[in-house]
Amino acid sequence: MEVICDNQGEVNDITKKQFYSLNTYLSEQEITSINSWILKIKNENVHKKIQQRNKHVNRAIKTLGLKYNKIGNGKTRIVFDLENGYVLKVALNCHGIWGNENEYKLFFNSPSHIQKHLCPVKDFGYGWIIMKKMTQKPSKKDYSEKLSILIKKFKENGIEAKDMRKNNLALSENGEIIVIDYAMFDVTSD
Ligand SMILES: Nc1ncnc2c1ncn2[C@@H]1O[C@H](COP(=O)(O)OP(=O)(O)O)[C@@H](O)[C@H]1O
Ligand SMILES: [Mg+2]
Repeated sequence: MEVICDNQGEVNDITKKQFYSLNTYLSEQEITSINSWILKIKNENVHKKIQQRNKHVNRAIKTLGLKYNKIGNGKTRIVFDLENGYVLKVALNCHGIWGNENEYKLFFNSPSHIQKHLCPVKDFGYGWIIMKKMTQKPSKKDYSEKLSILIKKFKENGIEAKDMRKNNLALSENGEIIVIDYAMFDVTSD
């Protein structure tokens, strides 16, 4: 799916989403700082060159000024360790804003047998999302044996599971594959 950088109207949604958010994980000041970062990058695209991308990630860290350590980043989001069993994903560009929104919608609209394969969402707001921190990575064996079955299961439930790369997957305590980046998933039917 192609994402077009057009977040017109989303600014107006800030208040609405803030209202729905539980706001139990971030301080008001942290949310304000994230909001002002998101307003800066809401029309930006993915930086194609790795050096530019890294520079942009450093700009995000500096501008956000959060007390948390970066645990990772992809092309669209920077991820911080909240040190309480959760991670905070903040958009780096318009694709990240869209991806965070896609993830919370997908998580909260999925039945439990699908939800158990999606990294649990705890909170979200405009351009950010809080998820459970996953520490276990799937082994090569898990990856080859369970992945195609899982993709099929998503498909049977009207979800096209895209971008199922190793970096986007984790393993639950009971050995099931959990997707930690499902921003690119497409709902093909209801
Ligand atoms: N729930 C999580 N628990 C632990 N690490 C995570 C989690 N989510 C993301 N990460 C780390 O952050 C990286 C980037 O996150 P991801 O959601 O894949 O961003 P992007 O959408 O930009 O690819 C991941 O590859 C992983 O290393
Ligand atoms: Mg990713």
